[in-house]
Amino acid sequence: MNNSVRIVEVGPRDGLQNEAAHLPAATRVAFVERLIDAGLSTIEVGSFVSPRWVPQMAGTDTVLRSLGSRPGKAFPVLVANEKGLDAAIAAGAEEVAIFAAATEAFSKKNINCSIAESIERFRPVAEKTLASGLRLRGYVSCVLGCPYEGEVHPDQVVWVAIALRELGCYEVSLGDTIGVGTPTRAVALIDQVADAIGVERIAVHFHDTYGQSLANIFASLQRGVRVVDAAVGGLGGCPYAVGASGNVATEDVAYMLGGMGIETGINMQKLLNAAEYITSALGRVPTSRVYSAIRPLSRL
Ligand code: HMG
Ligand code: MG
Repeated sequence: MNNSVRIVEVGPRDGLQNEAAHLPAATRVAFVERLIDAGLSTIEVGSFVSPRWVPQMAGTDTVLRSLGSRPGKAFPVLVANEKGLDAAIAAGAEEVAIFAAATEAFSKKNINCSIAESIERFRPVAEKTLASGLRLRGYVSCVLGCPYEGEVHPDQVVWVAIALRELGCYEVSLGDTIGVGTPTRAVALIDQVADAIGVERIAVHFHDTYGQSLANIFASLQRGVRVVDAAVGGLGGCPYAVGASGNVATEDVAYMLGGMGIETGINMQKLLNAAEYITSALGRVPTSRVYSAIRPLSRL
């Protein structure tokens, strides 16, 4: 097994976009600084979407500007359309992500258009992104289940993943938005998408609603996947996926990878500090298993 895995920390974006509390940019920057200090090198720091739809992500331009460009660090942001891309470029973004869905109902609820329309909406976004020298990542949501349409077949995912690759995405993150997947189905999906775009182009993005994320990630790793999205403290959710819970916790993924002898470069104590910082800003504690296991011991 190739001995390195890239973790894409999505806490500042996926983790905060569904919270009742709308955290100010300064708090979000301080959170990202703690994640950097913990050793994370790819951190999705926000999104340029309509503030009418997701007010929690307003101020992402300030977050990006405050962070600036750092050697060896990537701060991708979601962009919903050309307006979002222009604002992201003006704020100094070096990488953006576009996001499509595997089901029509979710596409309509999340970005107010059909899947085919979303691909066409993203075409000029992708062209301008690449022409401007930025990196382009893609997401497909609802790859294993949809809150409105139920179980999703891999065929529904494959064509969207191909479309994102054709738009120039260097990587396609497969989102189990509502966390219903189990390892057997996750692996069947990955095999089918890998046949179409290559396993080296796949990232996995599991929400942990049913507690299946680590099992799904382990199974995905065995199929050759080497990029895992996660959110510190188990933060996360999508405002348009009611009932879905947080992302798999970064600290739980890091613990599992460490146990498998896979290097992540993460300092666990500092990562838990970042988790504590942001969850206390939200008025609670991290939901991760590692936090529950380690924090009481550190107070003995
Ligand atoms: P719309 O209402 O159809 O579009 O929304 P619109 O063009 O009529 O825009 C509505 C208003 O928003 C207008 O303002 C626009 O100017 C403004 P008004 O004239 O009413 O004052 N607007 C913007 N403002 C700032 N930046 C922008 C922007 N765009 C429009 N970029 C739209 C369509 C796509 C914009 C909307 O549906 C939207 O923003 N959706 C984003 C939803 C979202 O962010 N969801 C969460 C991220 S996806 C996710 O979490 C899944 C993932 O984690 C993977 C997984 O788990 O599966 C990635
Ligand atoms: Mg997500």
